[in-house]
Amino acid sequence: MRMVDIIEKKRDGLVLTEAEIEFVISGYVKGIIPDYQISALLMAIYFMGMTDDEAAFLTKSMLYSGDVIDLSNIKGIKVDKHSTGGVGDKTTLILGPLVASAGAKLAKLSGRGLGHTGGTLDKLESIDGCHIDLSEQEFLDQVNKINIAVAGQTAELVPADKLLYALRDVTGSVPSIPLIASSIMSKKLAAGADVICLDVKIGDGAFMKTIDDARILSRLMVNIGKSFGKTVIAFVTDMNQPLGLAVGNRLEVKEAIDTLSGHGPKDLETLCVEIGSHMIFNALQAETLEVAKKIAYDNLHNGKALAKFYEFIGAQGGHIDDLDHFVSVKEIVAYKSVTTGYIKTIKALNIGLASMKLGGGRETKDDIIDPMVGIILAKKIGEHVNCGDVLAHIYTNKPINEDILNSLTMAFEIVDYPIAIPPIILEIIR
Ligand code: URA
Repeated sequence: MRMVDIIEKKRDGLVLTEAEIEFVISGYVKGIIPDYQISALLMAIYFMGMTDDEAAFLTKSMLYSGDVIDLSNIKGIKVDKHSTGGVGDKTTLILGPLVASAGAKLAKLSGRGLGHTGGTLDKLESIDGCHIDLSEQEFLDQVNKINIAVAGQTAELVPADKLLYALRDVTGSVPSIPLIASSIMSKKLAAGADVICLDVKIGDGAFMKTIDDARILSRLMVNIGKSFGKTVIAFVTDMNQPLGLAVGNRLEVKEAIDTLSGHGPKDLETLCVEIGSHMIFNALQAETLEVAKKIAYDNLHNGKALAKFYEFIGAQGGHIDDLDHFVSVKEIVAYKSVTTGYIKTIKALNIGLASMKLGGGRETKDDIIDPMVGIILAKKIGEHVNCGDVLAHIYTNKPINEDILNSLTMAFEIVDYPIAIPPIILEIIR
């Protein structure tokens, strides 16, 4: 087989075989095929697309390019979730304990945040004592014992994705639906769960800008999952504003605790109940989806999910001794509206960037995070504001500069006509 023939085949819109795709991926991971030929193929895929079968073959070759986690020693059905990248997205901290409190097993490998998006590991590590470096045995034992564990990745999972993503990033080929689908699904399949819920965000700062593209990506990922015998459910969700009100590590942990205590922001609670109910139902912990939904809602309001959260944090070495002083910063600055009207958009990208510039996120992967800082929104889309009303509170340990204020100014779009409150879940695809 010759790489140039495969590039030409895809350039001309033809369908690659499983053997050709395996030749490409294994050759690239072994260092036999050079970056420039892979770049050409990625661009050909970007323009010509892939069939569902090609995307599934690509996912398979990527999946087996490294280690695959074996969760067979965990009793029961294992569930997992993935978000395509959100701002203020603390759902794992809520959903994990929620579904674990209902009997589902969540064995999750999470990542760190970069740029405007946050990462679950950073949120967990912002809690005193909480560590995410569990050995494989500790990870499995903890799930068997309390139904939930979240760890950073130790095994070498999907090395092909690391190589391909770095190349896509510098060759303009990130926004290709089959490449995104195979990248996400290879990692999710390598993590070993039986049921995978995917939160596919649309809006500013999200990979998918339109509902049509989000639908195509979701269907493709669901089909890839099915071809591996997994249950995959995709939730197309709105990210025209941050999820909930809090952005910043400890602020988000605090909001997760509020939600687990039954008084979280509406959009966040709705999303967690909806995704949680599908996880609980598919983990066979409820007879119908309706029953699962009631369990999910009830456990957020009866203290069961909250108790599981503290058990989970404790099992990973963490403790929160005084929730009232959990977030402590030098200054909380009110950011006010300079116009009167209705909030149309709160660009998640800009809010995420403002939090990052405060020190709450990483510009490069070696940056150190300040866990205390961030933004709490005072208003959400659809609300009316008068000139001088507070739009957000800035939690900071350093003086607020123009750059941070500009990010906030660019985030809020305020119009003079009423705006309907958008639904958080736009579609569910399975
Ligand atoms: N997230 C991923 O993991 N991969 C992509 O290609 C895009 C989003």
